Amino acid sequence: MRVTITSNVHEMSVQAAQMVRDEVRRKPNATLLLPTGGTPLGMYRELTRMHSQEGLTFAEVTTFNLDEYVGLPPGHPGSYRRYMEENFFRHIDIDPANTHVLDGTGSNLEKACLDYEQRIREAGGIDLAVLGIGHNGHVAFVEPPAAVRAWTHVAALARSTREANARFFHSLADVPRAALTVGLGTILGCRRVLLLASGIEKADAVTRAIEGPVHAMCPGSALQLHPDVTVIMDQAAASRLQLREH
Ligand code: F6R
Repeated sequence: MRVTITSNVHEMSVQAAQMVRDEVRRKPNATLLLPTGGTPLGMYRELTRMHSQEGLTFAEVTTFNLDEYVGLPPGHPGSYRRYMEENFFRHIDIDPANTHVLDGTGSNLEKACLDYEQRIREAGGIDLAVLGIGHNGHVAFVEPPAAVRAWTHVAALARSTREANARFFHSLADVPRAALTVGLGTILGCRRVLLLASGIEKADAVTRAIEGPVHAMCPGSALQLHPDVTVIMDQAAASRLQLREH
């Protein structure tokens, strides 16, 4: 694991965007696995700036998203399809046909999960996955206890996850109780992984993920099993690290 500690969240976002930019320049038809939430917002802003000011093109890029709520149609303000459109896709030159977000409204969710894995395979696998981390150590919506050999599936959301995401809804009651999410197997199958964390409220989770034992109760700790992981976090998130060699 390569661990970079930045002086603030802005710097975390800029460095994350640079890593995505370098991947897309190296391989213009790269396939990315992308997160939503608060953590990557600055990275999407910086990538948008690189597109408009530096000519970074996403014309041949394919994206998949980590997860989507069950029951929210794509246009719903809380849906992750809507988040991606508003915070990233509509500001860049990506072909909408190359953007994939799980659909949590279908009648056969199990099949939607199998189809998603199939589409990832058909795209040639994921070149770079970008992840945030939840307070309870979740990555994507893989909640503890997590199975390492799991692919895209329907997941019940932990109460702490619903509480953390209530800020994107009118109230906690409006936050869906389930989501479709890629699994740890999907993530460990990606060629490279970038984990982002910012703020003191992530300090425990990220410390357990990168310095604790690999444990089902901290899904992010499975990243220790991956050969090519970069972690970029701000000083607040890094404040509880022992700073062992990674
Ligand atoms: C979002 C996702 C989640 C978030 C995590 C952190 O697509 O997969 O794992 O990355 O819940 O969320 P924020 O960044 O809002 O703190």
